[in-house]
Amino acid sequence: MEIPFIIKKTIDSRRSTRSYKMLDIDQEVINSIRNFGEIIFLPFEHDIEINFFKSKPTNKLYMTMKSPPDNIAFLAETDVVSISKVGFLGELLILFAHSKGISTCWYGHYRLSELERLIPHLQTKEQLKESNMGYGYSKGITTGRRAICVSPLGYHNKKGLRLLDRITKKTSSFKRKEIIELLEEPNEYNKLSNDIIYALDLGRKAPSAANSQMWRFSFEDNYKTIIISMPIGYKHLKWEHPNVDIGICASHIWLGLIDKEYNPIVSVYEEGNRAVWKVSI
Ligand SMILES: Cc1cc2nc3c(=O)[nH]c(=O)nc-3n(C[C@H](O)[C@H](O)[C@H](O)COP(=O)(O)O)c2cc1C
Repeated sequence: MEIPFIIKKTIDSRRSTRSYKMLDIDQEVINSIRNFGEIIFLPFEHDIEINFFKSKPTNKLYMTMKSPPDNIAFLAETDVVSISKVGFLGELLILFAHSKGISTCWYGHYRLSELERLIPHLQTKEQLKESNMGYGYSKGITTGRRAICVSPLGYHNKKGLRLLDRITKKTSSFKRKEIIELLEEPNEYNKLSNDIIYALDLGRKAPSAANSQMWRFSFEDNYKTIIISMPIGYKHLKWEHPNVDIGICASHIWLGLIDKEYNPIVSVYEEGNRAVWKVSI
């Protein structure tokens, strides 16, 4: 499996960017991201739509930040597994974009009415009413096919870092839990091979909404299968779709095993309103 970027270096250096230069991205770079999305071989079936769109430099979409001209939206059905697959595929695109010098930030909270104006995609007016938390995304049950997350695509404006970003950068952004804190059974750590630890290390570095790192790891098949899911009953105060984040984490683990020259087998299913990913060597 050929991944067209240096896996560990790309994962280690990606950071969410919340301040952009109001500059169009080179069409060639956009085309390369688009092309990557079309040709990347994914270890599962899906019907996610990747939508590249333009936006004016206003705060209407992201609310706390001006949109750069180029942006990307991931559209899918709203069942737990489809939502989680958005995380997996979306993160591969975000990492690819980063490897091309393009900054990004996963946004789960955006103004849906503004997105609908920019890329009409909803099937019913009811879907707009679902975004009733004031953050743009909906509280509770979401229905139908719609945008799940969006991200700016652009060039980092280093001078534009607001105070809030500086605080976030210092407190949460770079911090990640250690692998051992993420194991369902911490005493299993000593049973893990170096390659599995390598993959889990890339997994723990995944981005998550408010840096919540809600993924937990367990094992099967004599520690040759990694199971990735959130704890049963997990709820985030402000983010309704942590299964996106679980898919992101699963993609990092999959990449980690590819980096170690395995051809990992991947499956995902729904259990107790959670997406459960299994990645096996
Ligand atoms: C699914 C998802 C949704 C997110 N939504 C938002 C958002 O609405 N607004 C925002 O400023 N950051 C958002 N983030 C970015 C996270 O805050 C960020 O990834 C996390 O703090 C870790 O920092 P890092 O990406 O720089 O490693 C989101 C991240 C993920 C994975």
